[in-house]
Amino acid sequence: MQAWVIGNWKQNPATSQDVNILLDDLLANVAKKDQTTSEVSNRCQLMVAPSFIHLAAVSACLKDSSILCAAQDISAHSPSTGAYTGDCSAQQVSDTGAKWTILGHSERRQYHQESQDCLLQKMTHAINQGIGVVFCIGETQTQYDVKETLQVVDEQLSVIKALLAQQPDSANLLAERLIVAYEPVWAIGTGKVPTVEEVSKTHQHIKQTVAGFADSLGSMTVLYGGSVNADNADSFAADAMIDGALVGGASLKADSFLAIANAFDRASL
Ligand code: PGA
Repeated sequence: MQAWVIGNWKQNPATSQDVNILLDDLLANVAKKDQTTSEVSNRCQLMVAPSFIHLAAVSACLKDSSILCAAQDISAHSPSTGAYTGDCSAQQVSDTGAKWTILGHSERRQYHQESQDCLLQKMTHAINQGIGVVFCIGETQTQYDVKETLQVVDEQLSVIKALLAQQPDSANLLAERLIVAYEPVWAIGTGKVPTVEEVSKTHQHIKQTVAGFADSLGSMTVLYGGSVNADNADSFAADAMIDGALVGGASLKADSFLAIANAFDRASL
C-alpha cells in the first residue's frame, strides 16, 4: 500500500522568504534522494499543507515536483464564490493547483467550533470540486482516559457515512480522494504519543468501520498524527495498519520531514 507523509505547516512559516527556504530545502533533498536510490517507485507520497496566504505560491513551486500541495481547510458555505468574508472555497483551492485539503483538524474543531454538519458541508464541497480530503479524527485526553477513543472516532467518521447517504454515487470518488488521519488531540504538539499497539488497534477499527460504509472503501489509507518525529517514525512505519503520518512541528524542517518519509520508504521495501 502506498504510504503518505503529509506536512501540516499550520500558521507557519512567518514570511514568504522562510517558505521559500523550506521549499528549496525540501526540493533539493528530494532530488538528491531520487538520484541516489533506484527504488523511486516505492517512495511514500509527500504532501505539504501551507497556510492560505502561501498556498498559490507553494502550489506553483511544487507543480513539476513529486510533492503534492494541500490547503488546511475550505469554506463550508459555498463550493465556489459568495459573501463569506475570510473564507476560501474548494474551487479557489483547486484553482491554485492544490489537489487536497485537510479537514476536521482538532485545532479547527477546537478554535472554530467545527461541527459534524459543518464538516459534512466542507467534505461535500471538496469532493464535488475534485479536491481530496485528509480527514482528521481523534479523541481528547479526557476521552482517552475514560477509554472512549473508539466511540469518538465512530462519531467523527459518521460524517463520511452521512456524505454517502446524501450522494451514494460518490463512493468511488471517496475511495480515491479520502484519507483518514487519526490524531489523538492529546498527542498533537505535546511530545506524548500513544503506543504503536494502541494506534494499530484504532487504525484497524477505523478501516473496518469505513469499509462497512461502502465496498469501495475497503482499503482506506489511515495515517497517524501527533508528535511524529525523526526518532519515533520507524516504530510507526513498521506497523502494517499505519499507512503514513500527518506531521506538524517536524514538517517545518526539511531534514526531519524527510527523515520521517525515509522511515516509511524503508518500511515499504
Ligand atoms: P505535531 O502536529 O506533529 O506537531 O504533533 C500534528 C498535527 O497537528 O497534524
